[in-house]
Amino acid sequence: MPSSTVPEYAFAAPFTHPPTSPIRRLAPYANRPGTISMAGGYPAQELFDVAGLNAAAANVGTRLVDCLQYSNIEGQASLRHALARLSAQRGISCDPDTELAVTGGSQQALALLSRVMLQPGDVAFVESPGFPNSAQTMRHTGATVLTVPSGPEGVDVEALARMAAIHKPKLVSVVATFSNPCGATLTREKRLRLLEVAVEHRFLLVEDDPYGELRFSGAAVPPIIALATGEARQWTAYISSMSKTMAPGLRIGWMIAPAEVRRRCTGAKAADDMACSAWIQEIVAQYLADGHYDQHVPRIRAAYGARCAALGDALRTHMGDEITFLQPQGGMFCWARLTGAIDSTRLLPHAIEHEIVYVPGNAFYSDPAQADAQAMRLSFATMNEAQITEGIVRLRRALRACEANEPVSIALAA
Ligand SMILES: Cc1ncc(COP(=O)(O)O)c(C=O)c1O
Repeated sequence: MPSSTVPEYAFAAPFTHPPTSPIRRLAPYANRPGTISMAGGYPAQELFDVAGLNAAAANVGTRLVDCLQYSNIEGQASLRHALARLSAQRGISCDPDTELAVTGGSQQALALLSRVMLQPGDVAFVESPGFPNSAQTMRHTGATVLTVPSGPEGVDVEALARMAAIHKPKLVSVVATFSNPCGATLTREKRLRLLEVAVEHRFLLVEDDPYGELRFSGAAVPPIIALATGEARQWTAYISSMSKTMAPGLRIGWMIAPAEVRRRCTGAKAADDMACSAWIQEIVAQYLADGHYDQHVPRIRAAYGARCAALGDALRTHMGDEITFLQPQGGMFCWARLTGAIDSTRLLPHAIEHEIVYVPGNAFYSDPAQADAQAMRLSFATMNEAQITEGIVRLRRALRACEANEPVSIALAA
């Protein structure tokens, strides 16, 4: 007989309270018909290369029986070599047999690196504001995760250096190119300085790079690991993903890490999920080998570039000096700040009522004391130019309604 009382489970410390996500909580509003959502971190579904993936899948289908077995834990050789070639195009050289591993998205890559490096009593750093799941996976190890101030120009490297001298982190994770949520890119000089700090304080510097290939304007800056020479390379790991360039449903990412680190991550992955799907990995490898990827990425870059331009134009035209932002040069996100008395959390119910949804900035701060109440993350990836323009017109109407204290029927949980 099921008992009506919930037993007092002795949950592990990071799970004493079930993890909640202010971003996921917005989904029911974002998905309402007629609503323009700039909230999600999803890539544009209508841009998925279904034909290219079908062609690659049909090819793999002719040798399907070979793809239904457990994969090597570190990933299918075909995909590891294809990903090493793709990484080389980004300026990164690596040995696909000892330094590269296929992972379930870049999220799993960070989870594995965290697991092999961190335990209770250790310290790790993440950026703030930052992608909440990054901090979360590090906290699950029981380590103390401290936040380094970040913003539209990327992580504050000198603040990070000062904090590293005091707290001695073992792992530091940064998104150096088109960060989530700020859309920020670190300069080459700051990347070199980060490498210096990593060597000096002997922490593993993990660059999470799901967005770097989505540059539609400005000059490219090499990934941090591509700038790492000598000892610095031993303190650097690079993680990336097919989620934003191909499709997140593939759940394919990869890590490039020093061989001794990768070896331990492979062990951790074996205990976690055994391996990624051999079938999906072969499809992705075939897709890359057939040149579909090289044709597809420029298409999404162009589409996101046009959408981002439309967002910038709409913000300037319809919000004027009521909002400030830096025009992104790539990625999927624009970090904008309201300049008046109203903050983005107070505005949100009015925005939802006017059928426009964004994520308030405070969702990206694990320490509420540091949160920027005026900020909001606007994703320009999933809506077309006309929808984006209409969305910002609605945002202005919502701001007027909020200023006039008009009643709202939406009660958002705190
Ligand atoms: C900064 C960052 N890292 C990692 C991820 C997770 O990506 P994946 O689908 O590759 O696990 C995301 C997804 O939004 C992200 O924004």
